[in-house]
Amino acid sequence: MSVLDDVQAMYAADTKGMLKSLWELPGQCARAWELGMAAQLPPAGQFKHILVTGLGGSAIGGDFLRVYAARRLGVPVVVNRDYVLPEFVGPHTLVFAVSYSGNTEETLSAYARAREKGAALVVLTTGGRLGEMARQDGVPVITVPGGIAPRSATGYLFLPTLAVLYRMGLLPDPGQEVHECVSLLQSMREELKPEVPRDSNPAKMLAAGFYNRIPVIWGSSGTTEVVAQRWKGQINENAKAPAYWNVFPELNHNELVGFEFPGELLRRLYVVILRDPHDHPRVQKRFAITREIMEGAVAGVVEIMARGSGALARLYSLVYIGDYASVYLAMLYGVDPGPVRVIDTLKARLAEE
Ligand code: PA5
Repeated sequence: MSVLDDVQAMYAADTKGMLKSLWELPGQCARAWELGMAAQLPPAGQFKHILVTGLGGSAIGGDFLRVYAARRLGVPVVVNRDYVLPEFVGPHTLVFAVSYSGNTEETLSAYARAREKGAALVVLTTGGRLGEMARQDGVPVITVPGGIAPRSATGYLFLPTLAVLYRMGLLPDPGQEVHECVSLLQSMREELKPEVPRDSNPAKMLAAGFYNRIPVIWGSSGTTEVVAQRWKGQINENAKAPAYWNVFPELNHNELVGFEFPGELLRRLYVVILRDPHDHPRVQKRFAITREIMEGAVAGVVEIMARGSGALARLYSLVYIGDYASVYLAMLYGVDPGPVRVIDTLKARLAEE
């Protein structure tokens, strides 16, 4: 029996409950939306830019927002993964400072700088130092439930930002899209859950494709780019394995040329093309031509199509498959998907300095 069909063993190996968090994601999204709708708002202003500052699992929701808002919001969204902030940040910037733990030093530093620069702030966190600082400063805090891995909390760390922007009159009402997203995830989990055998579970099949190979995930600018990045991060953190990502059409102008040498290593790559019906028509043509050019050179190329009609459902449908696949890949490698000892060690060593 494949390890992917030993349901009990998988739950036993998953000491931090990553599978449980995945099962609970639809409920998390619904709750996250409510939290955002009930949150205290920052003072109204004439905002020229929105900036999300955070790292890792707390930053990816900023990219979800960036991509989602690009076609709906009159001002740019910038994601900042650093101690410092871009020079443009000032009183006309609305900053979301996001840290699940509330103790990530880069985010604490960026938060302090945003305060110095007079930006309007909203904090998303479970608490920690960031929560304390924001409360002392009178900055609105959206306190999200703790007890899961930051990367399992994308609903909590992303959807409240949509609710806040909508309530501030900056974004059209995404409420219907959130509901569609929640129902789609509820139906998808029945297909992706551990109890569904390998041969009919798309996430397990993907994990089997990735196993003992290097995943290369390709998305498209403006639609699935952020999902490609998410899959890469999830494979890294959950399966403790490398993965690489890139975007169409840019990759047609460089990366695709690099599929000739070294032939032996290229045959260990497993390529996933993430597709969305809203991809630019010319980009859709590029998928087929690209496949033809490089197919024989690598171990495999598969295409995964987004589901749902609204942008949120389409985005999360792809995120969900990738999240499950990364946990199943961890199972194939015999590693616990939850703990990220390398990140913990790094943070602890930096704290000693
Ligand atoms: O997934 C993880 O555990 C990390 O990527 C963290 O999100 C990252 O280290 C930042 O920590 P926090 O989310 O607590 O700010």
